[in-house]
Amino acid sequence: MADNTTASSESTGLKQAAREALDNAPTTHQRLLDWVRDMAEMTQPDAIHWADGSEEEWNTLTTELVDAGTFVRLDEERFPNSFAAFSDPDDVARVEERTFICTKTPKGAGPTNNWEDPAVMKETLIGKFTGSMRGRTMYVIPFVMGSLEAEDPKYGVEITDSAYVVCSMRIMATIGTPVLDKMTRDNAFFVEALHSLGAPLEPGEEDVPWPCNPSKYIVQFPEDRAIWSFGSGYGGNALLGKKCYALRIASAIAHDEGWLAEHMLILKITDPEGEARYISAAFPSACGKTNFAMLEPTIDGWKAEMVGDDISWIRFKNGQARVVNPEAGLFGVAPGTGWSTNPNAMRGVARGNTIFTNVALTDDGGVWWEGMTDEVPEHLTDWKGNDWTPESGRPAAHPNSRFCTPIKQVDILAEEYDDPEGVPLSAIIFGGRRKTTVPLVSESFGWEHGVFQGATLSSETTAAAKGAVGVVRRDPMAMLPFIGYNANDYLEHWLDTGARVGEENMPKIYYVNWFRRTADGGFAWPGFGENSRVVKWIVERLRGTAGGQETPVGVVPAKEDLDLSGLDISDEELDAALRVDKDEWLAELPGIDEWFHKLGDVPEVILEQRAGLEERLKSS
Ligand code: GTP
Ligand code: MN
Ligand code: MN
Repeated sequence: MADNTTASSESTGLKQAAREALDNAPTTHQRLLDWVRDMAEMTQPDAIHWADGSEEEWNTLTTELVDAGTFVRLDEERFPNSFAAFSDPDDVARVEERTFICTKTPKGAGPTNNWEDPAVMKETLIGKFTGSMRGRTMYVIPFVMGSLEAEDPKYGVEITDSAYVVCSMRIMATIGTPVLDKMTRDNAFFVEALHSLGAPLEPGEEDVPWPCNPSKYIVQFPEDRAIWSFGSGYGGNALLGKKCYALRIASAIAHDEGWLAEHMLILKITDPEGEARYISAAFPSACGKTNFAMLEPTIDGWKAEMVGDDISWIRFKNGQARVVNPEAGLFGVAPGTGWSTNPNAMRGVARGNTIFTNVALTDDGGVWWEGMTDEVPEHLTDWKGNDWTPESGRPAAHPNSRFCTPIKQVDILAEEYDDPEGVPLSAIIFGGRRKTTVPLVSESFGWEHGVFQGATLSSETTAAAKGAVGVVRRDPMAMLPFIGYNANDYLEHWLDTGARVGEENMPKIYYVNWFRRTADGGFAWPGFGENSRVVKWIVERLRGTAGGQETPVGVVPAKEDLDLSGLDISDEELDAALRVDKDEWLAELPGIDEWFHKLGDVPEVILEQRAGLEERLKSS
């Protein structure tokens, strides 16, 4: 082994360029230097590049990616500084069955995660990573999730052999020189985040546009606060600051430090009197967070702004909940995002500096996806590179195609979005995609009931993860794929936090469902901008001015409690949206029981809530 930075590293067998990059590293952070050296010795890259996060670096890397065929440069006028990438058809989403939480004991990972012994997993991964960067450049990306000015900045360093990852990370997080300098100055702790596409190049071997490996491992070591990701270039698997760090690892840190790391958007809502409130909302992947975060109210006098669209870090200080969006970019689902449904996202994307993945290309150098415009282009190149016409009978964009855009480009961004202290949090909303049973909105009876609602949150599966689409699955707090430890301990942590901070100080909890259907199969509620009517009811409930009906599942607005002015909705649709049907809910109980049986060790308080629900249903 090399003797750290002082010794010459000739004995390491590293290529000269890599050796020089190590010897001339732009940091004196010893743990970082040691780790980078160890990883380089294992993965054997041709070269090492310390990402500085500069515009020149972006220009160089994007040009290289265009030359490599990974990126298509879009029409400069309509999509300035923007690119489209097309993945391997088998590398299009998160791979939950290949995602592991490696804790000392299986109990640490709990009943909802794939577990492997950390030592065994390390052995396997060392086998995979050995030589995995041959013929490629290793990029070292210092990053911070949340503000660099935070009291306790949450640092990470991602090592990757993908330039696509470097460019995407530059959008999604604060990266590069300022981060490295501060981290070095404070000799700060950082999360080690190792990523490789797992596609080494032999001398003379030609590269493919989207290198990856059929054998994928997305591995979290929460006790070591470390991430090893192998074989995938897809965002959720490869941009390690996002799901792997800001949710899986951060949830474990939050458990130890007494806060919450959650899969929630953050919305700022200002009422006609000018009073602002902040709401976080947890919906499973592809169930409307980004859309709701960019809500365009359809009711007069109400203003919505965005603070975050995917992740909430909720801390408690002096009896107040405050929430931070740890990300600097949006990694949004493209299909269904359009000028009519989410003009705020469309305007943000149109300002350029965006990476699109797996969308379709128009003949004039633009992009298109299902739902972007009402008019469907006559000819496209689909995400697989084939000719496409409306008659093709298949989607032009992959259902999980994404846009990656700097958050600053969103013109309805609240100016306090990056306040290191976060913003005060008034309410938490849970929601899922359910055709039946769950009403448009209900208010929980209190913190424990709200935690029960979150613990039993259910949704029909979407294309955001590999696997069958449309199956009802339980997704506690929309965190099923992201809880970095035992789900029972996670629920207990929610309860404990409420008890510690005091119920009166906690945000109020609501449960929504934009996706309920009428008897003839259509959406009962028009959704999108019209969801502002639900937000208005919630804010008025917080203020104590809105009415509601107590039902067995919570307080639900009667028709007259909702502002429906100017809304084109039939009585039948409205009834379908708001109805609490005793039989549907009784039929829900076995599913909840099955879920609790799977969890095994559900906190007693939550089981009491389950019993309370049945009692209320039966006596209603
Ligand atoms: P991740 O980024 O994967 O965590 O997902 P997300 O929760 O941000 O999902 P997103 O906002 O991108 O929504 C995905 C899908 O939900 C799109 O197809 C939208 O058309 C649909 N959607 C969003 N809001 C509504 C709504 O209010 N009503 C209906 N019917 N569909 C909606
Ligand atoms: Mn998400
Ligand atoms: Mn989203």
